[in-house]
Amino acid sequence: MDAWNTEEEVALKVVGPNLGFDNNFVQCSKSSFQPLPDKEEYICSLGSAALADQKTKSSKKLVDSLAVAKIDALINYSNGDEYVCEIDEPIESNLSNIIRHINPERQALTVGELVQLVKADQLELSLSGSSESLSKFDLDSKKSCVLITGASRGIGRAIAQEFAKSVAAESFFILIARSFKDLEEVKQALMKIANISVSTLVLDLSKPEDFNFEAIVNNILTSENQTKDSFEQVIIVHNAGSIGNISKRAAEMDSNDEIQAYFKLNLLSVILLNSAFLKVFSKFDSYNIIVINVSSLCGVQPFKSFSMYCSGKASRDMFFKVLALEEPNINVLNYAPGPVETDMVANIVENTWDESLANANTTMRENGTILAPETTAKRLVKILDDRKYSSGDHVDYFDDI
Ligand SMILES: NC(=O)c1ccc[n+]([C@@H]2O[C@H](COP(=O)([O-])OP(=O)(O)OC[C@H]3O[C@@H](n4cnc5c(N)ncnc54)[C@H](OP(=O)(O)O)[C@@H]3O)[C@@H](O)[C@H]2O)c1
Repeated sequence: MDAWNTEEEVALKVVGPNLGFDNNFVQCSKSSFQPLPDKEEYICSLGSAALADQKTKSSKKLVDSLAVAKIDALINYSNGDEYVCEIDEPIESNLSNIIRHINPERQALTVGELVQLVKADQLELSLSGSSESLSKFDLDSKKSCVLITGASRGIGRAIAQEFAKSVAAESFFILIARSFKDLEEVKQALMKIANISVSTLVLDLSKPEDFNFEAIVNNILTSENQTKDSFEQVIIVHNAGSIGNISKRAAEMDSNDEIQAYFKLNLLSVILLNSAFLKVFSKFDSYNIIVINVSSLCGVQPFKSFSMYCSGKASRDMFFKVLALEEPNINVLNYAPGPVETDMVANIVENTWDESLANANTTMRENGTILAPETTAKRLVKILDDRKYSSGDHVDYFDDI
């Protein structure tokens, strides 16, 4: 609603009674402008029209009358309370009358109002990163495209199953790992759970240089007759990962090949696949886009023998925090799944040089405090559904949120 609509202002309208970005510019009686597709260009043209109009009308008179109308309106709005603003000088702009119609949220006519608008913008910006504005997970009601790496076993497989239980019918899953046999098993299991389509992709993610991830994702959608704009929600789960060489101390990490191989799988391919996925779906603003990085306590706390693993997880977390900061419309979660009974834990017990770490994992397995993959996958769904985190947060299985 325009609080400052006055008779004089109506008389000064340049583009007719129905102001906005539609074709009403052509209705301008004084000009032969054509409708323009580009917003900025359109505003410039409106500005020119306004300046031409100023030759016959006094801009000072216009601004003054609008300022008076505005103060009247504010007093009315506040039920007669006096409106106090120390810097209440009218802004001397030939375009203010037009701009506040074109862009109603930019209705400032005085410096004081402008300050308030800037503050409101900042508030909106900071709120946009909060949990309130995160995409709704809504597995139940949204047709989703879900891509999960490392879905052949362990936590990735469990996440695929939990998501399949919840998504809307006709959702589409893309499962990535190296083992064709295991992926096919998971595919069959998922298709028994729900009326969804599942495609498997055998990729060794430690060799990102071999792939064009964008083409791969596009091709799989095309070959499975999946149209991008049929989805309401797209989800990528970066779960595949490895523990690295845990038989060496940080000071002994001297193999260029080993370090490169580690970071190619655990960081480089994650970034490249993520960018490709977002690019494939970038045109569709209306999607809920959810990015889940399967993180670890090791991303925030150092553990002996885990120099590769801890540094890989920490850098992944930070990458996704930056993504969350830059893309307020994307719901980004760094999820640390807790200690989970998988092949990775077996590998730790067997190969770490740190005996206390091996013993701690053995004890957890023996006393049953280690989590089942399904348990942590269910917790992930709950965290997404509750949406009590801010985009980019690192949330642990044990966190009380
Ligand atoms: N288990 C835990 O206690 C724990 C705790 C915190 C965080 N995490 C994280 O959870 C995620 C899953 O771990 P997990 O415990 O389920 O481990 P896992 O049982 O060893 O599973 C790892 C998954 O990643 C895939 N993968 C491994 N190397 C790959 C490669 N080069 N290319 C493509 N896929 C590859 C594996 O499939 P293929 O072998 O078929 O390729 C498998 O599906 C990891 O990111 C891990 O860091 C685990």
